[in-house]
This record gives sequence, structure tokens and C-alpha cells, in this order.
Amino acid sequence: MRILITGGAGYIGSHTLLEVLNAGHEAHVIDNLSNSSPTALSRVKQLTNRDFGFTEGDIRDRDAIQSAVDAFQPEAVIHFAALKAVGKSVVDPMPYFHNNVYGTLVLLDALRESSCRRFAFSSSATVYGDPQYLPIDEQHPLSVTNPYGRTKLQMEGILEDLARSDPSWSIALLRYFNPVGAHASGRIGEDPNGIPDNLMPFIAQVAVGRREALNVFGDDYDTADGTGVRDYIHVVDVARAHLAAVDWCAGGDGEGRGCEAFNLGTGRGTSVLEMATAFGKACGKPIPINIAPRRPGDVATMFAHPGKAEQTFGWRAEFSVDEMCQSSWNWQSQNPQGYSAE
Ligand code: NAD
Ligand code: UFG
Repeated sequence: MRILITGGAGYIGSHTLLEVLNAGHEAHVIDNLSNSSPTALSRVKQLTNRDFGFTEGDIRDRDAIQSAVDAFQPEAVIHFAALKAVGKSVVDPMPYFHNNVYGTLVLLDALRESSCRRFAFSSSATVYGDPQYLPIDEQHPLSVTNPYGRTKLQMEGILEDLARSDPSWSIALLRYFNPVGAHASGRIGEDPNGIPDNLMPFIAQVAVGRREALNVFGDDYDTADGTGVRDYIHVVDVARAHLAAVDWCAGGDGEGRGCEAFNLGTGRGTSVLEMATAFGKACGKPIPINIAPRRPGDVATMFAHPGKAEQTFGWRAEFSVDEMCQSSWNWQSQNPQGYSAE
């Protein structure tokens, strides 16, 4: 299949690109490199020994997107390109609406001119807001707690309306829980700009000596050890879920599948302290920690009911928390400064 991947140079995008190429598909990447490095793309080329097209451009640039769509004639689109920092979206929401909502509309407009009606959308467990019950299944009520989450929920609604209006669409809304880890080669991985907001890249930078200690945001939650619990999922599992979702999109016997949401999680919760301990085991030295105040907006516990993706397209997460930490350490120790060294 010819698969167009927006945001393909990013963290999840580069891992998905690699799986897409290894599965024998053709790929074309669109990325403006606003939060990624071209080195990720060259490393995917080396790792797969496969070539692919690349448009360095913004999804809001209609001419650039239309040219890429016209030339590549995609049979499916995997749409990662978006801004993703929850805290920044609260302070300065407009870039989030522009990139995540308007950018997706431009992309969808360009696709209208093509015959491509298969679309996998990067959504997030953030659309569930504060959990009302656990594990969270796809029927859980949806709500918004920040502008980033609003962009995901708005796009989910728009994509649902689109599929309702035209039954030839097959759209998978993929709601990721907490993607972490790296490809087994250690050649591609997560490389955030500045101080990492998220737990795993922060721990990895402590382990490699770039930061002194992990600040544990709250140890007085109603959880077994008092620290926040999340459903961490290996990025390679997330990447493979996209392949399964695209196959599902393609398998409608000529009919579209409509628009369906799927959780991408493991169904297991891991606390901050458990994660720090597992990482310490992976890197061979304990991770120093400071107990810090709770981070505003955090919930105590979130984990997925991941069964729908397995029932519908036969995907389930395979990797353990130890494997997530080992692969993250493998990447970070080989690339202490991320991609910037190249
Ligand atoms: P990332 O920042 O590493 O990747 C996003 C990529 O999109 C980057 O390469 C960036 O340069 C590109 N991009 C951003 N705006 C663009 C634009 N206007 N035009 C073209 N390219 C643009 O992020 P990621 O972690 O790989 O996340 C990928 C997707 O998954 C995002 O949509 C994100 O919201 C979603 N998601 C991520 C997580 C997570 O924890 N990483 C969780 C839930 C959902
Ligand atoms: N944490 C720390 N110290 C840190 C960073 C995080 O203790 O330095 C804790 C948090 O308090 C939380 C847990 O580690 O308990 C996980 O935090 P992350 O920031 O890694 O992840 P979140 O669950 O807060 O957020 C992630 C994505 C969001 C998405 C959300 C819901 O980053 O984009 O999941 O899906 F919206």
C-alpha cells in the first residue's frame, strides 16, 4: 500500500515509518521538522535499507500538501503531525488550534481531491479527561481538560462527521495512552527539546547524567505507593498498531469502515516509583529522586481497556515495562544528546 505519513520524522512517526517500510509498503513523509530531526529519517533509511519520499513542509501549506498527495497518490494516510505539549497549549493555545485542527482540515481537503479514504488519526487518552472508571474503554465519556486535548476531541468529532457524510471513509481514531521506549537498534528514539515534560525521557536524561534527579510529582495520591499510575506502552507496539489499523481500514470489501475509536494501551498501570526502579535496573544504577508537589492537572491513575483493538484488528501490546526501559536506555546511552550530535 502507498502510505502517506504526516509527522513521520517525529518520535512515534519515525518508529511507524520503520514498521511500514519493513512490512513492504511504500511511504511518503510530510514533516516541517518543527519538533524533529532529519537524522531520524536518514536512520530509518539505513535501518530498513528502503527509500521513501519526503516533503519538508507544513500541513497547513495547501499547495505543498496537494502536490505531495497528487504525486504520491496515497492509499492510506497516517496523521501524526501536531503539537503535543499540554502545558504550552494552556499558556499559548493558538498554535495548537492552527497546527492540530486547521492543519488537519487542510490535509483532509487535499485528500478530497484524491481517491484516498483511509485515515489513521493520532488521538490521545487525554480525550477521556478525568477517569470516571477504570480500566478506560472506548465508551468512557469524553471531556476536555486543556487546549491540546480540545484539539484532539475536535478532530475526532470532525472525522466522525466526515465518515457519516461519506460512507467510503475508513477512519481509525487511535487513542494512545503513554508511549515510551525506542526501537531495538537504539538508532531512533524520543528526543524532546529542552527539559522533558514527560516521565520516561526525563528519567533517561537523569540516567545519562544530563539531569541530577527525577522530581516525582506527588507521593500522596490514592495509589499503592502514592505516586501517579499510567499505562505505559512501547512505541514499537504503538507503531505496529498503526499497521494493523491501516489494514483494517483497507479491509472493508469495497465499503468504508466508518469512523471508530481504539485505545492503544497495555491494560496495566505502573507507578512513577515503579518506573524509576525498572529504569534503574535497565541502566544498572538507581535513579535519584526528589519528592516534589503534585503537578496541576494530573490524575492519580489512568489505564486502558485495550480489548477493542485486539477484537477488531488483532493487535495487542507485546512489550513489558522492563523492555520499555531497556530500549529507552539503549537509545539514550548511544545518543546522550539525542539527534543533535549529528
Ligand atoms: P513529535 O513531536 O515527536 O512528532 C510530531 C511531528 O509532527 C514532528 O516531527 C513535527 O516536526 C511534526 N509537525 C508538527 N506540526 C507540524 C505541521 N504543522 N506540519 C508538518 N509537520 C508538523 O510527537 P509524537 O510524540 O511522535 O506524537 C505524534 C502524534 O501522537 C501527535 O499527534 C501527538 O499529539 C500524538 N500523541 C502523542 C503522545 C505521546 O505521549 N508522545 C500521546 C498521545 C498522542
Ligand atoms: N511525572 C513525574 N515527574 C516528571 C514527569 C512526570 O513524576 O518529571 C509523573 C506525572 O505526574 C504522571 C506520570 O509521571 O504521574 C506520567 O507523566 P507524563 O507527563 O509522562 O504523562 P501524562 O500521563 O501526564 O501525559 C501523557 C501525554 C499527554 C497526554 C496524556 C493522556 O504526555 O500528551 O498522557 O494521554 F495527554
